[in-house]
Amino acid sequence: MPKTHLAQILGDVYLLRVDDEETRYFEALWEIGNKGITYNSYLLMSDDAVVLLDTWKKTYADEFLENLRELVDVRDVTHIILHHMEPDHSGSLRKVLEENGFRAEVLGHQLSKNMVRSFYGVNGKFRAVRDGERLSLGGLTLEFIHTPWLHWPETIMTYLGDRGVLFSGDAFGGFSIPSAIFDEDRIVPGYLTFVKEYISTVIGNYRQYITKNINKLMERNLDVKMIAPAHGLVWKNDPKAVIDFYLKVAEGVPEKGKVLVIYASMYGACDAAAGIVIRELERNRKKPIVYGFTDSERPPISGLMGDAADAESMVIITPTYESDVFPLISYITDMISRKIPGNKPILILSSYGWAGVAGKRLAERFEIAKFPVVDVVEFHGRPDEDSEKRIIESTRKLVSYV
Ligand code: FEO
Repeated sequence: MPKTHLAQILGDVYLLRVDDEETRYFEALWEIGNKGITYNSYLLMSDDAVVLLDTWKKTYADEFLENLRELVDVRDVTHIILHHMEPDHSGSLRKVLEENGFRAEVLGHQLSKNMVRSFYGVNGKFRAVRDGERLSLGGLTLEFIHTPWLHWPETIMTYLGDRGVLFSGDAFGGFSIPSAIFDEDRIVPGYLTFVKEYISTVIGNYRQYITKNINKLMERNLDVKMIAPAHGLVWKNDPKAVIDFYLKVAEGVPEKGKVLVIYASMYGACDAAAGIVIRELERNRKKPIVYGFTDSERPPISGLMGDAADAESMVIITPTYESDVFPLISYITDMISRKIPGNKPILILSSYGWAGVAGKRLAERFEIAKFPVVDVVEFHGRPDEDSEKRIIESTRKLVSYV
């Protein structure tokens, strides 16, 4: 049985949270098996309205209904707001509506209308909310804000005006299962690592919309006292902290001295090159963070992406494989090029058996993605004395570039 939480977070505002410890690869892509994720739904109650904001992943639909029944007769839910159609939040919609007798009006972005039908076969009452539209329900005043690409185009947020609560969907969320509901000082620093990972993997491709949408929220002068995201902690003590952190990660603000070293090594040649680079970085008082993919090690790429976001620079080392870049390095390059800001200089090394080609190809790909490539060193087999000198010189070039 998954662990679930029901918490009154403010007046008649309730959190329904499930801790997903079962999913190993979020979106069938990102390794979260060692950290998990939560799905947060919220319930607002006034004299004449019961408003549900998002649901849980379908896997937990039965548990969702059990928790919802603790708070309300599901038939009494009058409105269901969908901030985002990705099924980790909308997945239990159908079951809720079935128990509700399809009485509730479903609210969301215009683009969600067809998705509600095609994802869940729901053809009932749907109301598209406009950007900036306000809705008064009994004692509640809700304001809807379109926040596209956080993290799909149909994403909206809801601001509960009277109480200063911003229900933000994916935005301001993070991976992991926090040991508390709110942003307690004792857990925030550790949790932010998982927020950074979440941004870099799930939302990274749309990072310019993080900045755009946060600016849009600021322009509205909302008096945000609490941020209630669809994943992770609820930010009550310092909501500005998570806003600032999201901006920092979206802009790729580097941690001083942090150099990400990524290598794949089939038979030890690139492993040896990584050792040369790491020693030279340490001699220059840099902090290398190493992800090595070998025949015995495969570190999580989700963690790698989190570390790429605030790296000062990167070293990428690839074997030559079928006259091209090694497939895993190719995939990692694709993810970094799409999801990480290109303000990080890169040194590329590659080992070859017959002819140097992988390094040049990798450099081309990073240059197309607007990353500055500081140098490319291709070496034959394991690095010999001459190759070692070239690797050391290139590492110094990278160090002095920053
Ligand atoms: Fe948590 Fe994009 O869904």
